[in-house]
Amino acid sequence: MTTPAHDPRWNALPRERLPALLRRMPKAELHVHVEGTLEPELIFRLAERNGVALAYPSVDALRAAYAFTDLQSFLDVYYAGASVLRHEADFFDMAWAYLERAAADNVVHAEIFFDPQTHTARGVPIEAVIVGLHHACQRAHQEWGLSAKLILCFLRHLSEDDAFATLEQALPYREHFIGVGLDSSERGHPPAKFARVFAKARELGLHVVAHAGEEGPADYVREALDVLKVERIDHGVRCVDDAALVERLARERVPLTVCPLSNVKLRVFPTLAQHNLPALLDAGLCVTVNSDDPAYFGGYVADNYVQTFAALPQFGVRHAWQLAANGFEASFASAAQKQHWIAELDRSFAAAV
Ligand code: ADE
Ligand code: ZN
Repeated sequence: MTTPAHDPRWNALPRERLPALLRRMPKAELHVHVEGTLEPELIFRLAERNGVALAYPSVDALRAAYAFTDLQSFLDVYYAGASVLRHEADFFDMAWAYLERAAADNVVHAEIFFDPQTHTARGVPIEAVIVGLHHACQRAHQEWGLSAKLILCFLRHLSEDDAFATLEQALPYREHFIGVGLDSSERGHPPAKFARVFAKARELGLHVVAHAGEEGPADYVREALDVLKVERIDHGVRCVDDAALVERLARERVPLTVCPLSNVKLRVFPTLAQHNLPALLDAGLCVTVNSDDPAYFGGYVADNYVQTFAALPQFGVRHAWQLAANGFEASFASAAQKQHWIAELDRSFAAAV
């Protein structure tokens, strides 16, 4: 990939103009859970519309509960929030609200996770989930040219049989999603638990990704590569505990979809300034910046870029270009489409300096 990464004019850009550049540059978002984009206001609106009782008396009380100590403490609140989703229109409204925010951040391509088991377990038909989300993606493309694709995630705290049943139920809507992923509680649920269902997904021609090395060990990253044969690792930040693994990720150019604000909220790192993103980039890894669950973690993808760059003085224009370009490279779009977006990225940088 040609890189204008050494344009001498980039060094001259005053630091105070970096946030505007970060917000304006075209970007891909490859790690966002649509259920994690449910803002408290929308949770309350949907609860009222669907007659669902919430454990919190107000939007402020709900927001006040967003003080997490680890992944599980977040997941408990996240699954409770998702309980207001009942009908196709609810899934459309949630995805549409996210896509409006993404468009405002100049996200030109989004690969969006959804967790069907969270909804089917409550008796919601999978059709309502997938069709509602798909219509929002379709409309974003029609209105803004934003390309939005769906990735179906299996919940790893449930059984592989449950994942198989979910894949089966989703197959009539196969053309509405591009891949499968693996999320939820990582510790104690190694990737190998889902070896057979991932093999089936690959046979079906689906892309495969998995969360690994968020809270779990570097071994889970290795297992996701060797057993599930994933094309990208979601999070993956714990890979640094294994030098040979880091070397392999760099050599094979396996992308890591890193989510800096999420990692601080869930105490994977104490602060953004202590995040290992610079080390991962220096090791030659294809790292990307993403929002994970933006309604819960204090910011959408542009906020993740802006706050991370504010906390890391060594990050400048060159890193902004590299991270955004990595996002396109790591996407599941065609080579021609990736080239088109990188050319757009180059134009936005040329205009900024
Ligand atoms: N589901 C939603 N967000 C998640 C995260 N950060 N890790 C694992 N599962 C998730
Ligand atoms: Zn995630």
